[in-house]
Amino acid sequence: MCGIIGVVGSSDTLATLLEGLTRLEYRGYDSAGIALVRPGQTWRARTAEGTESVAALRRVCEDAPSGFSSGIGHTRWATHGAPEAVNAHPHLDCSGNIAIIHNGIIENHRELHEALVARGHLFTSVTDSEVLAHLIEEARARGLELMEAMRQSLLTVRGAFAVAVMDATEPDVIVAARRISPLVVGTAPGVTYLASDVPAILDRATAFYAVNDDEIVRLGPEGFRAIDLEGGPVRLHQLSIDWDLETAEKGGHDDFMSKEISEQPHAIRATLLDRRRRDGTITFDEMRIDDEELREVKRVVLVAAGTSHHAALVAKYAIERWARISVEVDISSEYRYRDPIVEIGTLVIGVSQSGETIDTIQATREAQRRGARVVAVSNIVDSSLAREADAVIYTRAGIEVSVASTKAFVAQVAALELLALRLAQLRGTMSPTDVDALFLGLNAVSAQVATTLERRASIELIAKELMGSHDFFFLGRHVGFPTALEGALKLKELTYMHAEGYPGGELKHGPLALIEPGVVVVAVATHQLMHEKILSNLAEVKARGASVVVVATDDDETIDAVADFVMRVPATEPLFTPMVDIVPLQLFAYAMARQLGRNVDRPRNLAKTVTVE
Ligand code: M6R
Repeated sequence: MCGIIGVVGSSDTLATLLEGLTRLEYRGYDSAGIALVRPGQTWRARTAEGTESVAALRRVCEDAPSGFSSGIGHTRWATHGAPEAVNAHPHLDCSGNIAIIHNGIIENHRELHEALVARGHLFTSVTDSEVLAHLIEEARARGLELMEAMRQSLLTVRGAFAVAVMDATEPDVIVAARRISPLVVGTAPGVTYLASDVPAILDRATAFYAVNDDEIVRLGPEGFRAIDLEGGPVRLHQLSIDWDLETAEKGGHDDFMSKEISEQPHAIRATLLDRRRRDGTITFDEMRIDDEELREVKRVVLVAAGTSHHAALVAKYAIERWARISVEVDISSEYRYRDPIVEIGTLVIGVSQSGETIDTIQATREAQRRGARVVAVSNIVDSSLAREADAVIYTRAGIEVSVASTKAFVAQVAALELLALRLAQLRGTMSPTDVDALFLGLNAVSAQVATTLERRASIELIAKELMGSHDFFFLGRHVGFPTALEGALKLKELTYMHAEGYPGGELKHGPLALIEPGVVVVAVATHQLMHEKILSNLAEVKARGASVVVVATDDDETIDAVADFVMRVPATEPLFTPMVDIVPLQLFAYAMARQLGRNVDRPRNLAKTVTVE
């Protein structure tokens, strides 16, 4: 999730780029850069000073030459290649004339890189993005105009991109394209803008247009024109934007939580990109544990807090089922102090959105001290957890601002299930065909989440009906149990109401005593195998007067007989259900909190990242 800005035909190019990058900075980046382009000259500056990168860039740009009417700028959230200046964008081709900026992941960058090197290209970074500069360089050398050079280059590329290119031999032109990663064009008299997010150009452009997947747009001072990947003309859809800066930063949503809930399909898709080599092997961002050692793992221990702990609980079911390794899940603040046993072959997985939660870092340190190998699952590149681990899988959910974690959860489940599949591959506990089928199924979850999000209005109606209730029990079985825990956590932290998550089978061992009229039971009933058991649990609570809300699949015809309210979701593979089933529960907690007038982005007493014990 990088930030992109571009401008052509401007009298204050540098100020426009720097101001745009500053506005994109709220998403949190690790490096920044710009390229100013005019006939025969491309001037580039890049800095990598974490959250201070744009400020540092501003200082470097005090020495920038004047007289440029066009340029591009980028803030980077590292995926391939460390957050260092050398990997910051823009990247140049061998001639130094062509500059590109890119948001996304080029999945086949390794093979493209190899081929380009074999043809004599010199690479100066270890990013996946740089291949684009060299591909376009080759296309330009064949005599193609910049737009056609981009089109032909993209035909060879797999993955996600919002990419923009400039060439000092075709100045005052930006060519940009999009697949999956967002891109907008803005216009004003005599000036045309490009951005990944509206805030970057909000008070400069007067009209805004959305670039769709697989569309290429050519920007000049006089305006823009767009084509599709086949070269046919397309019209960009004009956006009606009457936002102030704050609304724009929230992508038009009322708050960050709503924005982040809506970003979940993208979070899953991005987390899964570029994870499978051509031979089917699943790969991760950093791996300093060799395959032999991973194959010999005897026990997995997951440590995490809060929402990340719930994602870890889902992973237990996946790793045990697919890789047949015994798994333990511990609350990180407990693990460290219970004198944990670490034997040879113990793999500890620290799961943390921020990668800075002190309890989780201390737990993984304790495990390392006792000889365990540690894998980090983190959303923040180069977080403390990631730096200290032996291997890292980054969830690519993008910055999560709202204190209540949403998109990080679904991305964590996706990443952990990938890890489970990798362990299964190494140990030969599943056939390559089955691993492939599950990998494809995992990729389909993003669309199922998108479908579920379209049902937001029906969830809001349920929330309205249940206003006035104060006691909520969330029930689930199998992976529906961690989903229930997460649904309850969302409701309690957002609304400050009493909500408990329980495994359905545990109800009769105590909590049933609390069920009476006025209590709401929310059950996750999408797991085919566990369906009948959950129905029995619901009969028990209904008989005692509880109101019953059920998360059920679209094809479930039995549920209406027991439920007062049904939240419908598309059916998916049982172990993938938490990513889909959590969506209505997030929307429910959100709607309840809004009705109660709560601050959904900043619930009372809570911090986004807990760095104290
Ligand atoms: O950054 P982490 O994933 O380590 O954070 C762990 C918890 O503090 C976090 O998930 C917290 O529970 C959220 N507020 C839940 O929405």
